[in-house]
Amino acid sequence: MSRLVYMLNGPNLNLLGKRQPHIYGHETLADVERDCRALAAELKLDLVFQQSNREYEIIDWIHEARETACGLVINPAAFTHTSVAVLDALNTFDHPVIEVHISNVHKREEFRHRSFVSLRADGVIAGCGTLGYQLGLRRIAQLLDQAA
Ligand code: DQA
Repeated sequence: MSRLVYMLNGPNLNLLGKRQPHIYGHETLADVERDCRALAAELKLDLVFQQSNREYEIIDWIHEARETACGLVINPAAFTHTSVAVLDALNTFDHPVIEVHISNVHKREEFRHRSFVSLRADGVIAGCGTLGYQLGLRRIAQLLDQAA
């Protein structure tokens, strides 16, 4: 089986480190990618790491992952709360999906409490800062090892 994991990031996460640092912290998305690549190497996983502000690109990457990947970690950002299209795409993916939020969405505005993506996710990590991405990757590795 492939050991390829897709890590996808939704809108505004390109501004991580600059955007509302009191909520999202000072680390940039490049820092997150660097740390996740190091962890992926340790876990013997290959990693595709992407970010887009465009819903269709996220959907296209999920379709791509469908063909090649054995797991998916996704921070859909605002699409979490709005996108049936992202949920539908994830429902075509047959391997583990972990949803990550840097902030604790449940402690924030009510509209952030609803997640379409959680209807598909096998696990949800929220409020652990950018460490959540690494936790998501570790969970995928664990699920793959259990399935092997
Ligand atoms: C977020 C939480 C979302 O509500 C928000 O729209 C984001 C980031 C998080 O990582 O905490 O853009 O997904």
